[in-house]
Amino acid sequence: MNVSLGKRILLASRPVGEPKESDLRIEDMPVPVPGPGEMLLRTLWLSLDPYMRGRMSDAPSYATPVAIGQVMEGRTVSEVVASHLQGYAPGDIVLSPSGWQTHALSQGRLTRKIDPSIAPVSTALGVLGMPGMTAYAGLLDIGQPKAGETVVVSAASGAVGSAVGQIAKIRGARAVGIAGGPAKCRYVVDELGFDACIDHRAPDMAARLKAACPDGIDVYFENVGGAVFEAVFPLLNNFARVPVCGQIATYNASEMPAGRLLTSQVTRAILTKRLTLRGFIVTDFAARHGDFLRDVSAWVREGRVRYREDVVDGLEKAPRALIGLLRGENFGKMLVRVAAPER
Ligand SMILES: NC(=O)c1ccc[n+]([C@@H]2O[C@H](COP(=O)([O-])OP(=O)(O)OC[C@H]3O[C@@H](n4cnc5c(N)ncnc54)[C@H](OP(=O)(O)O)[C@@H]3O)[C@@H](O)[C@H]2O)c1
Repeated sequence: MNVSLGKRILLASRPVGEPKESDLRIEDMPVPVPGPGEMLLRTLWLSLDPYMRGRMSDAPSYATPVAIGQVMEGRTVSEVVASHLQGYAPGDIVLSPSGWQTHALSQGRLTRKIDPSIAPVSTALGVLGMPGMTAYAGLLDIGQPKAGETVVVSAASGAVGSAVGQIAKIRGARAVGIAGGPAKCRYVVDELGFDACIDHRAPDMAARLKAACPDGIDVYFENVGGAVFEAVFPLLNNFARVPVCGQIATYNASEMPAGRLLTSQVTRAILTKRLTLRGFIVTDFAARHGDFLRDVSAWVREGRVRYREDVVDGLEKAPRALIGLLRGENFGKMLVRVAAPER
């Protein structure tokens, strides 16, 4: 009998510091055959996200790590190839937690159909998916921006940050981005319509940020941590809100870098300025998913929320692309195009 072959990428070893390509291993696998109550999915798009660095580590976290020898975790947009599962038919396009592999069996858990008439299906992994939802819920429910306020967001050209600034603008706030390099900063202002963008690699970043925020900062959407947080913190206004979404500057760090801010300075400012800092994981806001899809789909259709994708072709490119994402080499939502749809 002819067995068709697919490919999968496994976690080979836990990275120390920056991941190496050898921490991940690609291998052939037989394409599985769906049994009763199952469907066979073929991966079209694999999402690469900063949280994957955390899953490669066994340090204590809010989520279980990927085990050594296990397929790397990841969300995909996949095509149903064969189905013995009610409600799914060959040719359907679904969002699925298939992981880093060309094919996967699914019993429908954490899977939902995507309507290709709303937007290109890849957006279900970006602006209309988990990163967009993170921006929407974190900004609106925790940040609560008001018209005329100043909203600052780091990693501003990326999947989450780009949506944060544009939604802040829709709410009538001033949006100031922080991004790495002149090209990303130009894009954030010229294409996304932010009021200003500061290059976090510029030596006088803190002074430039202060000049770009003459009325201080009312909402800081924190994606990065480290030196960027230290530049933002003194500029926070009374009653400022800080949705703490990510800390990508430290994801590859084996030891926490020493900072200039002292704990007592931070806690004193929290008290005297009556700051609200709230960490969140996007799944905390599952009840807001319907509102998110309704609002952001409409804003994308109307051209009020724009997005950019950074695409590499072929599953075998995923390890290198994840390493690049953690270095800031991606420009927009990082995606791997694994295959084209068959139907
Ligand atoms: N809490 C949640 O539920 C949740 C959900 C989704 C994402 N997140 C977090 O949101 C953040 C953004 O995620 P994303 O998917 O939108 O990724 P992304 O912004 O598309 O890509 C990551 C970006 O982070 C920036 N970066 C990397 N190292 C940095 C450093 N040392 N200092 C400053 N910036 C650095 C780079 O942009 P520059 O070139 O501009 O520096 C890079 O392009 C991440 O921290 C992620 O973990 C959290």
